[in-house]
Amino acid sequence: MILILLGPPGAGKGSQASKIIEEFGVTHISTGDIFRKNIKEGTELGLKVKKIIEAGSLVSDDLTNELVFDRLAKENSESGFMLDGYPRNINQAEALDSWLKEHDKEITKVIYIEASNETLIGRISGRRVCKNCGATYHIKNHPPKVDGICDVCGSELVQRPDDNEETALDRIEVYNRKTSPLIDYYEKSGVLHRFNGNLEIDEVYEDVRDSLK
Ligand code: AP5
Ligand code: MG
Repeated sequence: MILILLGPPGAGKGSQASKIIEEFGVTHISTGDIFRKNIKEGTELGLKVKKIIEAGSLVSDDLTNELVFDRLAKENSESGFMLDGYPRNINQAEALDSWLKEHDKEITKVIYIEASNETLIGRISGRRVCKNCGATYHIKNHPPKVDGICDVCGSELVQRPDDNEETALDRIEVYNRKTSPLIDYYEKSGVLHRFNGNLEIDEVYEDVRDSLK
């Protein structure tokens, strides 16, 4: 199974990814998570992308494509994988298509999660993530059991530096301009499936799960 999670910032790609992994056990490759891990560890890649990510812009296609294909080569991707936040423009989608063709593979489904701008801003501004394990919460929609503390590992919950309102608006604008053309791109190849991301996390997942069975 080869899945792509597509949708604007805050639509719930990461939240649905956690549920898909739990049930279907596919390898999860989130370019955003990989970049943030590198920033946290202060690697060369992290230093290169820190400012770009904090400004809500896109990292260069060359760097991102190389990162994803390296990861796919290292991971045991034979049984399938799920890309979250990649591809993010037509150029990346074409690079992925070439890679898939070379490896005799095909996209099973593009899970496209739609949500209104109002929903996105509310989700992004209320999101809290665990400093240690990356588990994601929301102060209203999905709060931890103890305020500010991760249910999974007990570490402190923090806000992503790109989750302030100004950068969130920039990220939505970048999405509309550069990423949303992928909706048409994948619709034309017949792999796009639309999901109403305005619903509760579990309701969205019921629809996603039904489409994967
Ligand atoms: P990335 O990490 O991919 O961020 P994003 O696309 O902006 O998406 P988010 O992670 O913000 O949202 P999400 O859809 O995963 O929502 P979540 O489930 O967390 O990218 C970050 C940056 O990295 C980019 O800006 C760019 O700079 C760079 N980058 C990454 N990939 C790149 C690429 N391919 N090329 C170039 N640059 C790249 O949910 C959000 C909140 O809402 C949470 O609090 C959650 O609990 C809550 N929530 C989720 N779903 C629901 C629901 N249904 N109901 C109620 N609450 C919900
Ligand atoms: Mg995410």
